[in-house]
Amino acid sequence: MSDGYGLLKGKKGIIFGALDERSIAWRIALACKREGADFVLTNAPVALRLGALDALGEETGAPIIPCDVTKDDEIQDLMNQTKEHLGGGVDFILHAVGMSPNVRKKKEYTDLNYNWLQQTLDISAISLHRVLHHADEMDMLNDGGSVVALSYIGAQRIFSKYSDMNDAKALLESIARNYGSRLAKRGIRVNTVSQAPTKTSAGTGIKGFDGMYTFADKIAPMGNPSADECADYCVTLFSDLTRKVTMQNLYHDGGFVTAGISEEMIDDLAKLYSDED
Ligand SMILES: NC(=O)c1ccc[n+]([C@@H]2O[C@H](COP(=O)([O-])OP(=O)(O)OC[C@H]3O[C@@H](n4cnc5c(N)ncnc54)[C@H](O)[C@@H]3O)[C@@H](O)[C@H]2O)c1
Repeated sequence: MSDGYGLLKGKKGIIFGALDERSIAWRIALACKREGADFVLTNAPVALRLGALDALGEETGAPIIPCDVTKDDEIQDLMNQTKEHLGGGVDFILHAVGMSPNVRKKKEYTDLNYNWLQQTLDISAISLHRVLHHADEMDMLNDGGSVVALSYIGAQRIFSKYSDMNDAKALLESIARNYGSRLAKRGIRVNTVSQAPTKTSAGTGIKGFDGMYTFADKIAPMGNPSADECADYCVTLFSDLTRKVTMQNLYHDGGFVTAGISEEMIDDLAKLYSDED
């Protein structure tokens, strides 16, 4: 690991969603540590029982606090414990939480289980509202702070296998904009980072993920960015170098969102179809 740039020296934060080494939040926690931040790590009690997060806690010196993001009392508990551990409010929050029972159980979009849809929206999107609401009410967000939630381009374009997570990400991005407008007067930024397909537990749990990953990688002029590259980008958003960037959905996708088709893909398709003739 490089020494970093000290971009987050003196900053304190809360990092939601590190599950295992591949998690984007795990990579972000390492990058935040490298840049000098202090933070707490949190995940749902059921995820903590797997025990993998202990290693990250040890490596970064961060306490681990259980919190199911759909439960108001657990979020309040998390805020109180964070205040104790870090000695006050926080300068940054990472929301890297997502889960859809419909996607997990391979339900087609036209045949959703509506109870599961509610869970998808509650866990993956409304949780950002809950976290911001309690953080604000409990005076946990320092002026000039920065909140980043991870999103996906399924919020704007149709990726059928992503099913109801497309809707959850659209709501997540809307909440980021709306809450961002309310917190802006205190210099607090709220943004979403729309990351390319990444090989994590949540990512690879999607039916057809390998195809989506390869497609994005072949179309994006720079190819898919890794979780570590996403982490570096998030560090800049937590830092003081991006003080007036707010209410944005920021693509971190190697240029995928703007690209039509790549030369490589044209050649691949031409070869595929000429082979079929
Ligand atoms: N992997 C990708 O391809 C990709 C692409 C774009 C955006 N994202 C987003 O990045 C974020 C992080 O996902 P990841 O890919 O690192 O996978 P991951 O599986 O490592 O992280 C998802 C996390 O959500 C947590 N979670 C689920 N339910 C929860 C609850 N009720 N309370 C608290 N935490 C809960 C899980 O325990 C897990 O840590 C998610 O929002 C995901 O949608 C992922």
